[in-house]
Amino acid sequence: MRTRPLKVALLGCGVVGSEVARIMTTHADDLAARIGAPIELAGVAVRRPSKVREGIPADLITTDATALVKRGDIDVVVEVIGGIEPARSLITTAFEHGASVVSANKALLAQDGAALHAEAQENGKDLYYEAAVAGAIPLIRPLRESLAGDKINRVMGIVNGTTNFILDKMDSTGAGYQEALDEATALGYAEADPTADVEGFDAAAKAAILAGIAFHTRVRLDDVYREGMSEVTSADFASAKEMGCTIKLLAICERAADGGSVTARVHPAMIPLSHPLASVRGAYNAVFVESDAAGQLMFYGPGAGGSPTASAVLGDLVAVCRNKLSGATGPGDSAYAQLPVSPMGDVVTRYHISLDVADKPGVLAQVATVFAEHGVSIDTVRQQGKDGEASLVVVTHRASDASLNGTVESLRNLDTVRGVASIMRVEGE
Ligand SMILES: NC(=O)c1ccc[n+]([C@@H]2O[C@H](COP(=O)([O-])OP(=O)(O)OC[C@H]3O[C@@H](n4cnc5c(N)ncnc54)[C@H](OP(=O)(O)O)[C@@H]3O)[C@@H](O)[C@H]2O)c1
Repeated sequence: MRTRPLKVALLGCGVVGSEVARIMTTHADDLAARIGAPIELAGVAVRRPSKVREGIPADLITTDATALVKRGDIDVVVEVIGGIEPARSLITTAFEHGASVVSANKALLAQDGAALHAEAQENGKDLYYEAAVAGAIPLIRPLRESLAGDKINRVMGIVNGTTNFILDKMDSTGAGYQEALDEATALGYAEADPTADVEGFDAAAKAAILAGIAFHTRVRLDDVYREGMSEVTSADFASAKEMGCTIKLLAICERAADGGSVTARVHPAMIPLSHPLASVRGAYNAVFVESDAAGQLMFYGPGAGGSPTASAVLGDLVAVCRNKLSGATGPGDSAYAQLPVSPMGDVVTRYHISLDVADKPGVLAQVATVFAEHGVSIDTVRQQGKDGEASLVVVTHRASDASLNGTVESLRNLDTVRGVASIMRVEGE
């Protein structure tokens, strides 16, 4: 074993960074044995230097992250600051000054992954980011390496623990959205401003990363269709239950049936209780992968939290250090397939539509005609009368999102349709 240590610069020492530092210290001997050389924490960049950081020698702390990555003797930079800047510039500087990079930064990778990969390659360095998607769950490496010989057709997952906690609460207790969100905030599962989670921005960033890797194609954040889950109601859960379903916020990356294009989207959807993703409870994450040869695979585990996320970061750190010692780099960016990313209108799935209609003869026929005119075939219809008004629940066969939108627009123009109470996609059947 080499005795000269590999030097690691840690950028950020918050929820994730402090756990990375702790595990690096407490597991030092095992990590050294697995890598083939000891690793040394050479510096820790933070914003507030006076904060007490247990287990980290004060002389390693700096507020000058740029100077740390420019030192020239750093082998690996671990970026766990988050956000776009200064994380992006620091990573670029790290590559230019001879370091490989491990990051947990989904926002940055989704926005600038292609450019960062290009910079890593130009400088002959590694860029690893297992922790950026679904925390501790090994996903990027299985997609990129274990399934490199297969053809992935679909990646569908619960990749945000906050929203899964809220939806699970609504499902299991009958709580409304706000009540469930308040509980998630009180328990520390939701941030003070939960927008990034509940409006699906966080999941969309992960979908862009997953789709790019799964389909060897450039998928930008803007390519991902996004709908949040703040509009999901207790009534939606009641409807889902009647269908033997529950509701999850899903990130879905799909190859079109003809293989010529891909789509990526994030939205709430009903899934059958028999689907493996339906039993993912609380703040857990899970990703269901379908491929030609392997068939169906499911990856499950804690999608966030300091220690779980640090596990993924440390796994990357070991891999990057091993590469460094062998003089190699790991698999980089792969976008050779260059498949076009189709708009949401091209997505084909089933829909659950709840309408408020006048309770009089002929309404059902009128509604059915509108569906037929748009080429959307109805699977089931359920009608319930209440004081001259009625609710009509229609579940369709598979249809394109564009056809469904056209149908809903025409339904809104019918005198007998008082309103469209909810529209939800039905997945996983
Ligand atoms: N938390 C999770 O469960 C989780 C899960 C998966 C991925 N991630 C990702 O991991 C990354 C870190 O998340 P986190 O939860 O650990 O964040 P965090 O607790 O807010 O920690 C951020 C750290 O970065 C430091 N920092 C901020 N701006 C800085 C700057 N300009 N220069 C130097 N240091 C700076 C902060 O310093 P101070 O300590 O002085 O404030 C803090 O130590 C993010 O990209 C996040 O998306 C987090």
